[in-house]
Amino acid sequence: MHYESKYHRSVEDAEKFWATKAKQIDWFDQPKQILTQDKDGLYRWFSDGMLNTCHLALDYHVAHGRGEQDALIYDSPVTQGFARYTYNDLLQETARLAGALQSMGIGYGDRVIIYMPMIPQVVFAMLACARLGAIHSVVFGGFAAHELALRIDDAKPKVILTASAGIEVDKILPYKPIVDKAMSEAQHQVEKVVVYQRWMHRAKLEKDHELDWELLARDAQPVGCTPVKATDPLYILYTSGTTGKPKGIVRDNGGHAVALRYSMEQIYQVQPGDVFWAASDVGWVVGHSYIVYAPLITGCTTILYEGKPVRTPDAGAFWRVIADYKVQTFFTAPTGIRAIKKEDPEGLLKQKYDLSSLKYLFLAGERCDVATLQWTQNLLNIPVIDHWWQTESGWPMLATPIDQGVVHPVKPGSAGKPVPGFQVHILDQDGHVLPRGAEGAVAIKLPMPPGCLPTLWQATDRFKESYLDAYPGHYFTGDGGYQDADGYTYITGRIDDVINVAGHRLSTSDMEEIVAAHPAVAECAVIGVENELKGQVPVGFVVLKSGNDITEKLLEKDLIQMVRDQLGAVACFKKSLIVKRLPKTRSGKILRRVMRHIADDKPYHVPSTIEDLSVLDEIGAVCEKQVFRQL
Ligand code: COA
Ligand code: AMP
Repeated sequence: MHYESKYHRSVEDAEKFWATKAKQIDWFDQPKQILTQDKDGLYRWFSDGMLNTCHLALDYHVAHGRGEQDALIYDSPVTQGFARYTYNDLLQETARLAGALQSMGIGYGDRVIIYMPMIPQVVFAMLACARLGAIHSVVFGGFAAHELALRIDDAKPKVILTASAGIEVDKILPYKPIVDKAMSEAQHQVEKVVVYQRWMHRAKLEKDHELDWELLARDAQPVGCTPVKATDPLYILYTSGTTGKPKGIVRDNGGHAVALRYSMEQIYQVQPGDVFWAASDVGWVVGHSYIVYAPLITGCTTILYEGKPVRTPDAGAFWRVIADYKVQTFFTAPTGIRAIKKEDPEGLLKQKYDLSSLKYLFLAGERCDVATLQWTQNLLNIPVIDHWWQTESGWPMLATPIDQGVVHPVKPGSAGKPVPGFQVHILDQDGHVLPRGAEGAVAIKLPMPPGCLPTLWQATDRFKESYLDAYPGHYFTGDGGYQDADGYTYITGRIDDVINVAGHRLSTSDMEEIVAAHPAVAECAVIGVENELKGQVPVGFVVLKSGNDITEKLLEKDLIQMVRDQLGAVACFKKSLIVKRLPKTRSGKILRRVMRHIADDKPYHVPSTIEDLSVLDEIGAVCEKQVFRQL
């Protein structure tokens, strides 16, 4: 069946379409109710179905002859570490860890925070939680203690699973002090902390609540899978919103499994047994969906790569991994490709490797600029497909369709056509669908397909306010964009205070809260400016308290440290500028969008409500001396 007919079926009779797709996974109780609305009026998929996601990812494959196939390959250029886990091995490790967690009182519905680097144990941990019907919340290792504390207070975990250290290229980053600091800052009391000790740095475990991972797992008895409802949460993944408080995106078990399984054949053209590699981190949604759950539910071999596209050891690192494991489908962020292009512009390092296994490259996480797309197409000579999604959707909403191996035309700058199930609309301020070519807010007509967030963790009102209230009958994505005459959508960027730094989603209001806390700062605005490598980087514009004469350099040094300490190094906050005033509307709203256009040297529209036009010239004069693109 061709894309067009699949797409029409998926939206014209969504229940029938998804009832068929649901048959591709092994339920304990097949769902009869396909799409329902709960007491809050929110849509729920497969509400009477019973299943276990770990069973789908492991036990099912072992029972169906895949026990000896590689499930997980760990490749770590930063430690020279390497390991292969067959489905049998991964099941054994997971079932034992689940037993250990169960002996600590973890069971159905309990929350477990996982704050770990890219090592196999993080995958065991996620799957072990799923096995028990517990809810995991993975926190990206690049976040600092305060961010971890916010998540502890929101998710209220019984246990934190962590490791003694992460490694960033050649830096050893101890994790335990961050966990200790977060626990002392959080109001919620965590019962136990389990630490996986890595050879390059061992953490001191001195308190009663601190346990050694290996000792615990060694003595544990393997346990089976707890059946859960399709609508029970599998995980909570926090993401940046427009306030300093992260949003706890809930992912349910049933819709998630059905959607991910479907995405592997529909979008990625992957079959059971294929080698699939998503070069991301399990702390992000790409890692959840396409390092762990989708490839394993599909019976693929997945790769867990503890390294970077460059410097570990060079810009040929990705090509080496693809050749070593005969990767068929590869997924990364455009920023990773830009990093390679910067260091190896001719792509000479690729020539050392046999990349004949590679069929497709998928890019997401940020808009893919045309130059990067074309450079990659020329280098690899395979289809390079930009596709668009977000933590909330859990799987792609736009992608260039592929019909039986034939790729629809790839249009540079566009993230493709709607994936079956997603009715992608471009809306004006009043919620009317705009004509083709006109730019507006990108929204998804309800109901969204399975796999998308049903709500926020224990915050249904916030869910409705953040996503549903702006355009009744639609989910608002936070992105702007337009569609062309052929139905291709072009995502032009966030229209809220969220920025995308090296494919990492961050909130500028979060950073503003930190900057504003500096004793010399009267007020500030943090905006995302264009950057050649990372897509965007944050820049702070600061107005000093009167009488304060701190120098720009000294203030910048303080602010960089404060953002690193409170939000994390991953924010890449490296630049702040002192200005006399910030441009505002007469009602006092800072004109961040206009500032962004000035900083990016792009034309902008001056709102009629501006308080004082001359401030824009002052901002322009400050920005003129800067080279943000190369920060
Ligand atoms: N734990 C601790 N610190 C981390 C971290 C982690 N898991 N990940 C990143 N950091 C730190 C880095 O060490 C760096 O710190 P520094 O300022 O002290 O050097 C900082 O956070 C910024 O890291 P990063 O954004 O990775 O920048 P980089 O200059 O080290 O590397 C790229 C640049 C482009 C190579 C890198 O960002 C990259 O590979 N991006 C791909 C992103 C991606 O996969 N996104 C997922 C969505 S698909
Ligand atoms: P995250 O939730 O971290 O996955 O970030 C999601 C956001 O990243 C989206 O709302 C977009 O702003 C941006 N994004 C992701 N993929 C793309 C893409 N292919 N093109 C443009 N923007 C993208």
